[in-house]
Parts: sequence; structure tokens; C-alpha cells
Amino acid sequence: MNNNFRLLLFLVTLLLVLLISGFSFILVNQHITTKEEEPWGWCGTPDPPDNPTYDLGEALFKVNCASCHNKNMNVDMTGPALGGVLERWNGDTMRLTNFIRNTQAYIATTSDPYATTLCNEWESVMQNFPNLTDEEIKAIIEYTESYYVYQLMY
Ligand code: HEC
Repeated sequence: MNNNFRLLLFLVTLLLVLLISGFSFILVNQHITTKEEEPWGWCGTPDPPDNPTYDLGEALFKVNCASCHNKNMNVDMTGPALGGVLERWNGDTMRLTNFIRNTQAYIATTSDPYATTLCNEWESVMQNFPNLTDEEIKAIIEYTESYYVYQLMY
């Protein structure tokens, strides 16, 4: 009787141990599976939005501006980081377009206080872009702005 009780106790304990270890094995396994199923680079910056204007702006930016303005739109280089530029120019794309096409001529004709201070602060002089159309410059600004805003979201 006593021995039977011990055997029963042993079997119940064994059953419990098996159940618990089996359960935790399933949990751990599930965890590993979900980890593996996560797409590569899930914690990196995802690709920003895609549309024809954005693509045009990106291509023009890389060829004409990226040598002086950081591609991450966040950190200054030879020229200031372009992220948030629209806000600094009070959303005035026409003013910004004229500035970008020819900074010195723009300052000479308008005496724009913001642009004058900016150019005095920076050692390098921005080159002129007489061949870029209004649409092309707007596309560049749309690209730099959406890239910047998109980055802030992630
Ligand atoms: C040779 C270097 C150089 C290149 C190339 C260049 N920039 Fe600049 N950019 C500057 C510098 C330096 C400034 C600061 C103002 C100044 O000194 O003219 C500036 C200022 C600016 C500003 C004003 C930034 C602010 O914070 O208000 C904008 C906008 C801008 N650049 C856009 C462009 C665009 C768009 C292109 C390409 C089409 C471009 N830049 C190409 C050097 C450059």
C-alpha cells in the first residue's frame, strides 16, 4: 500500500515534469519561429515613398546636391542638412526655388534677411543651377522633405 502510494506519487511527479518541460519547449520553439519569420531589416529604415516626382527629385538630388548636402537630410556637411528646409523658408517654394537657382543673385536682388544670414554663416558658396527648371527644383525639395519626414516617422 505504502509502496503503491509512492509509485503513484512518482508517476504524478513525472507526468507534471514532462508536461511543464513540453509546454516550455513549445513556447521557446514558437518564439524562435516568430523571430525567424520577421522580414530582414525590419528594424532599419524602410524604403521611403515612391512616386514619379519623388523619383525625379531623388535622381536630381543625387547628381546635383549630394556632394554638399548630406543624403540623410539630417547632418550638416559642406552645406546645411536640407531636412525641414520648407519650414525654415515659411513654405515659400518660389522663394526657395529662386534661391537655389542662383543664391548670390537672389540675395543681391531681394536682400532676403534669412538667406543673407545663412550665406554669411557658411564658409562655402553654393553653386548655381541655371539649368534646373522650377518643376525640377520643386521635385528636389519634395524629395528632400518627404525623405526627412518619413525618416522621423521610423
Ligand atoms: C558646392 C556645394 C553645394 C552644392 C553642390 C549645393 N549646395 Fe545648397 N548650400 C550649400 C551651402 C554652403 C549652403 C549655405 C548657404 C550658402 O552659403 O550659400 C547651401 C544652402 C542651401 C539651402 C538653404 C538651406 C537652409 O537651411 O535654409 C538649400 C535649400 C539648398 N542649399 C539646396 C540645394 C540644392 C537643391 C542643391 C542641388 C540642386 C544644392 N543645394 C547644391 C552648398 C551647396
